[in-house]
Amino acid sequence: MSNTIKRGGFSSSFGVLAATLGSAVGLGNIWKFPYLTGANGGAGFLLIYLLATLVIGLPVMIAEITMGRTARANPITALQKLSPKKSLPWWLVGVAGMVAAFLILSFYSEVVAWVFAYVVKAIGGSILSSDRHVTESAFSTLISDPVQSLLWQWGVLAFIGGILLMGVTKGIEGITKKLMPVLFLLLMLLCAVSLSLDKAADGLAFLFRPDFSKISAGVILTAMGLAFFKLSLGMGTMMTYGSYFRDDQNIPATTLRVMLADLFVSMLAGIAIFPAVFTFGFEPAAGPPLVFITIPAVFSQIPGGQLLMITFFVLASVAATGAMLSLMEVPVVILHERLGMSRPKATLVTIATLMVLGSSCALTNSTLASFKLFGMNMFDLFDFASSNVLLPLGGILLAVFVGWVWGKDKFQQALSNQGALRNHVTVSAVFFLLRYVSPLLILAVMLKGLGLF
Ligand code: PFF
Repeated sequence: MSNTIKRGGFSSSFGVLAATLGSAVGLGNIWKFPYLTGANGGAGFLLIYLLATLVIGLPVMIAEITMGRTARANPITALQKLSPKKSLPWWLVGVAGMVAAFLILSFYSEVVAWVFAYVVKAIGGSILSSDRHVTESAFSTLISDPVQSLLWQWGVLAFIGGILLMGVTKGIEGITKKLMPVLFLLLMLLCAVSLSLDKAADGLAFLFRPDFSKISAGVILTAMGLAFFKLSLGMGTMMTYGSYFRDDQNIPATTLRVMLADLFVSMLAGIAIFPAVFTFGFEPAAGPPLVFITIPAVFSQIPGGQLLMITFFVLASVAATGAMLSLMEVPVVILHERLGMSRPKATLVTIATLMVLGSSCALTNSTLASFKLFGMNMFDLFDFASSNVLLPLGGILLAVFVGWVWGKDKFQQALSNQGALRNHVTVSAVFFLLRYVSPLLILAVMLKGLGLF
């Protein structure tokens, strides 16, 4: 029955790029990348993240998109279709991807909730203060209020669900095509302001002058986890989007463009934030609240700060929307194609599940403050389990699948658009990385980073 469902798809080459970049660019660039770079020593971390993106991220992204386009199905069905020996349950990797999607969505939707709430707060002006205690208490008041936390989160889920109900072409592609250019424009504006500040050079030095003294196995695992999270890899998101790619799309070229543009957005976010942090004497290693506490305090000291702050949080909301769409599309398309639910019903079931599961993250700072598993609250646990365990594990299995099970001939056929593209060298290089390098490297980093050897 799953084969008879009519599937949507991206209609233009720019649409493919906007949607895929829309998935990659998100709070990962604007919230996670700055605080992880700040907490892990700046440029040294950045360099390792860059290496992980090139050697591991890029090949795995190409693999996922190629598999998705060849199978033209959700990740579970795709793995079933492409797997030559039906006896081995490769489709379980698709199931694990769906679990990862729910875990990420649970905490991610809460951070998006804060961002949306901050747009309103920025417009109201209540968080515009140079006194750190004021911005700190505004943030802790928001996150420790169970009703506000839940309502904002549910609002976000309903908003994203509404876009998904418009379908793949009109909803996902239509919206991301409009949002991506806006995002770049706003970010450039913020960078220009930040670079004109007094101590801009200190911020740039922090971001670009490597200091390797803070690098450990755990930090390397974090950088690799960030590379997976950033490019939406290891859980079937890119496979799902690949299933909407056009047949004549040049996959390696598109992937490279997405990776470079995503990196550019992270750099711009870093350039917008760190010069300001140093100029006004804030702590770069402030951790997850960095943008919520530091940014308002910083902007309050700049002429036109309120407008800039509104810009910043609108920008973050724009980025988050594209990423949320791709995250939610994974369970929606699986429920739709595997269980035969209509898309609206699949979307509603996904939202309802997330309202329950996500509340464990929304309430981490209030009702469930003392509830811990493995020494972590649900928010941190879901983040850690997805970024540092499930996504890399998914990456290993997908690389092994392409390198050892699907095989070079089929990969070559698919990646060269059935021979239309003369890209033998690229295909061979990517295949080599997938077969020999990525799985071993990911495994070694994971085992060492988790303290297992
Ligand atoms: N890439 C997104 C970001 O950096 O914010 C987050 C994300 C989206 C992760 C989709 C995973 C995913 F499947």
